[in-house]
Amino acid sequence: MERRLLDGKIAIVTGAAHGIGRGHALELAKHGATVVVADFGGDVRGEGRSGDADAVVELITKRGGKAVADHADIADEEQAATLVERAVRDFGRLDIVVNNAGIARDKVIWNMTAADFDAVMRVHVRGTWLMTHLAAIQWRNRAKAGERFTGRVINTTSGAGLSGNFGQSNYATAKAAIVGLTLTTSLELARFGVTVNAVGPGGMTRLTATMSADMKAFEPDDLAEDEYHPMDPAGSSPLVAWLASDEAQHVSGQVLRAIHDKIHLMRGWHEAATIDNREKRWTTDDLGHRIATGLYGTRAPGLGG
Ligand SMILES: NC(=O)c1ccc[n+]([C@@H]2O[C@H](COP(=O)([O-])OP(=O)(O)OC[C@H]3O[C@@H](n4cnc5c(N)ncnc54)[C@H](O)[C@@H]3O)[C@@H](O)[C@H]2O)c1
Repeated sequence: MERRLLDGKIAIVTGAAHGIGRGHALELAKHGATVVVADFGGDVRGEGRSGDADAVVELITKRGGKAVADHADIADEEQAATLVERAVRDFGRLDIVVNNAGIARDKVIWNMTAADFDAVMRVHVRGTWLMTHLAAIQWRNRAKAGERFTGRVINTTSGAGLSGNFGQSNYATAKAAIVGLTLTTSLELARFGVTVNAVGPGGMTRLTATMSADMKAFEPDDLAEDEYHPMDPAGSSPLVAWLASDEAQHVSGQVLRAIHDKIHLMRGWHEAATIDNREKRWTTDDLGHRIATGLYGTRAPGLGG
C-alpha cells in the first residue's frame, strides 16, 4: 500500500475528463486529495461541450475518493474565476492547481489558420495563466493574513514545446510559453511557499489518436489500477501527485518529462559560448568569422567554417 501524500488537500485538475488529466485526478484522489474535475467536455479541437467530467467524478467516488465536477471553460476569465471561487467556498481553500487542459489543431504553418493558432494559444497559455493568476490571488491573501501554507502549481508542457514538432507551430509555441510562465511564476510565488513546475507527459489519448490510428485513447478500464503500460496516459500521474505533496517543497521552477518508465530532468537555454567585442560596437565585417570561430568552432555547417 503506497503512502497517502495528499490527505486533506484541495486540488483543481483542469482538462480532467479525459486522458492525462483524468489520470492525474484519479491519482490525486487516491492520495487523499479532494479533486475538482474541471473540464468543459469539448472535443480535441476544443469544440462542443459535454458533461464527461461527471463520469470521472463517479469513478473517483466508486474508488472511495472525493471529487466534484465543474464544467468551466478554464480560458474564460469569468468561468475560471467562478471555478476557483467555488473550490474555495465549498472546501475552504485551494492547495493544488494542475493545469492540464489542452487541445490540438495541427497543420503545417502555411495551411494553419490564425483561428487555429488563437484557439490553441487560448486554452494552453491563457488558460494556464488565468488559473495560476486566480490561485496566486488566493495564496497572496492568505500569506498577507499571516497564514503559513504550501501551494502547488503543476503545468503541462510537451516535447513539441521543448524541441519543436513538425505541423504544430501553434501547439509548440503554446507549450514553450508554458515553460516561460512556469519559470517566472516559480520566482514570483516562492515567497508564499508555493512551488510551480512543468511536467511533460506522454500516453495514448484522444489527442494522439488524431495523429495516428495506432495511438487510440486508453479508457479507464483498459488497465488494472497499478498495471504498467508504456503508453498509459496516467503514467506521469504519480510524478504530478508527488510534486503536489509537501514532500516536494524544495522542487520549483523545474521541467520534468515523464515518458514510459523514465523521468527526465530537462535543462534548457544556457550560454553555450560567448564572443566578446570589449566595449566596441559590433560591425558586420568580421561578424561571420567571429561567430563561426568563436561560437561554433570552425566546422559549423553553413557558417564559413
Ligand atoms: N497525449 C500526449 O502524448 C501528450 C504529450 C504531451 C503533452 N500533452 C498535454 O497533456 C494535456 C492533456 O492532453 P490529453 O492527451 O490527455 O488530451 P485529451 O483530449 O484526452 O484531454 C484534454 C482535456 O482538456 C479538456 N479541455 C480542453 N480545453 C478546455 C477548456 N478550455 N476548459 C476546460 N477543459 C478543457 C478537454 O475537454 C479534454 O477533456 C494537454 O495539455 C496536452 O497538450 C499530451
